[in-house]
Amino acid sequence: MTTMRWWRGAVIYQIYPRSFLDTNGDGIGDLPGIVEKLDYIASLGVDAIWVSPFFRSPMADFGYDIADYRDVDPMFGTLEDFDRLLAKAHALGLKVMIDQVLSHTSIEHEWFKESRASRDNPKADWYVWADAKPDGTPPNNWMSLFGGVAWQWEPRRRQYFLHNFLASQPDLNFHNPAVRQAQLDNVKFWLDRGVDGFRLDAINFCFHDAQLRDNPPKPEALRVGRGFAPDNPYAFQYHHYNNTQPQNLAFLEDIRALMDRYPDVTALGEISSEDSLATMSEYVQPGRLHMGYSFELLTDDFTATYIRDTAERLEASMVDGWPCWAISNHDVQRAVTRWGNGDASDALARQLVALVCSLRGSVCLYQGEELGLPEVDVPYELLQDPYGRTFWPNFKGRDGCRTPMPWTDGEHGGFTGGAPWLPVVGTHRSRSVSRQENNAASVLNTVRAFLRWRRSQPALTEGGIRFLDTPEPVLAFVREKAGDRLLAAFNLSATPVDCSLELGAVTALHAPGIANGRLESGRLFLPAHGALYATLG
Ligand code: BGC
Repeated sequence: MTTMRWWRGAVIYQIYPRSFLDTNGDGIGDLPGIVEKLDYIASLGVDAIWVSPFFRSPMADFGYDIADYRDVDPMFGTLEDFDRLLAKAHALGLKVMIDQVLSHTSIEHEWFKESRASRDNPKADWYVWADAKPDGTPPNNWMSLFGGVAWQWEPRRRQYFLHNFLASQPDLNFHNPAVRQAQLDNVKFWLDRGVDGFRLDAINFCFHDAQLRDNPPKPEALRVGRGFAPDNPYAFQYHHYNNTQPQNLAFLEDIRALMDRYPDVTALGEISSEDSLATMSEYVQPGRLHMGYSFELLTDDFTATYIRDTAERLEASMVDGWPCWAISNHDVQRAVTRWGNGDASDALARQLVALVCSLRGSVCLYQGEELGLPEVDVPYELLQDPYGRTFWPNFKGRDGCRTPMPWTDGEHGGFTGGAPWLPVVGTHRSRSVSRQENNAASVLNTVRAFLRWRRSQPALTEGGIRFLDTPEPVLAFVREKAGDRLLAAFNLSATPVDCSLELGAVTALHAPGIANGRLESGRLFLPAHGALYATLG
């Protein structure tokens, strides 16, 4: 029974284990590395961690291609290491969320090895198999998100199998009840081990249209999408049939019914569809998922109008649901680079953390965001991400946001004693944890001060939100909880601004390390990338 609801208004720190801390010198981060740095994470003032996949995998998609849902990949450690991670995190007051990648497996998974072997084995119907058209081409026009057609030929069965992502990530057939049960059993394995929740990867991709109908073409002007490579033909169609099928809802209800047998756990669904806000409002409801992970601020739009419109649309559509915001993750360019117009300043880094942590909802902060890390320009020769290699040079994939954490300004940023799987560059070493630790004004320490203060403000963690009419580049809103009203205002530009703002009595101005604006005679003054928080009378 979920009674405590720790996850409402929580700040969740996302760890990409490959790039967090390497303790065995193989150049790749590991679970003991996370254990070692849990004190650091707790010192940030976050409520929970979300650990990206660490399960057994051939790592074609760096862990999002799972070969065994119930084991830790030896590269990352052992199940015992995970238990130690869980115990220490809990002792520090941190909740632990893990990724569950239910919609597809790796081609190395035993289920797939069996399924691909023949058309009549016990697992023959566990994946999405279809005959070729008479001319040998794939059964329909579906495209893979990572480029090219979504069907791969399997000579053993003389059939195609569906892959919405890489050809080494075959989609499971959720129309088969045995598949649904097997995945629920995998989820239960981790609940029994004591995790506090899940980030459900690509959760709207579980079901496909059983009739395999063609997706309709999309007009050129509408071919835009979050994080899509610009030349990706995936954007050329409406994804009406390869994901977000109505049958998915009942499966979400099955997941929820299972989770409701465990106290105080949460499910955060990653939902990216033709109309993600509408899908989120359908998916995040009593009896379904607890939270929806919004993609809307992972875009290039950094204007007050866009942020306000997005938050207002989400408020209007998610009547019963609880949102979760992110501006950076392991799939998109880091926010200070994306939104900084070439100026990834400390002021912008501080402001972005404050802004995203002031919207109504929970928040996922991505490792390194607390340091103000910019995107790394990884040269083609060092690119690892297959998505980036396919679409280079117009799109360089996701390696630039996945480079290792700089812990020190020494060799490889203190991340590894070996050769790191992606480079640690100078601009990151100069923003390392050790460099920032002893500087009270650093991004790291202002983020800490801000998150500590945020915890003392119920209006920010739980209150409602109402936007104020302010001109660009000022974004201003009031968060309100049981009569306590807190103003938050941000200058999204790199030059100082002032505008009129009539608010009545202001009883206190707050300076949580980040705020540095002024309110005087009905005018609001904000320095470049400045912010202001005030309690209203
Ligand atoms: C994950 C990606 C991954 C994909 C396929 C996404 O939503 O965040 O990193 O490549 O799912 O599992």
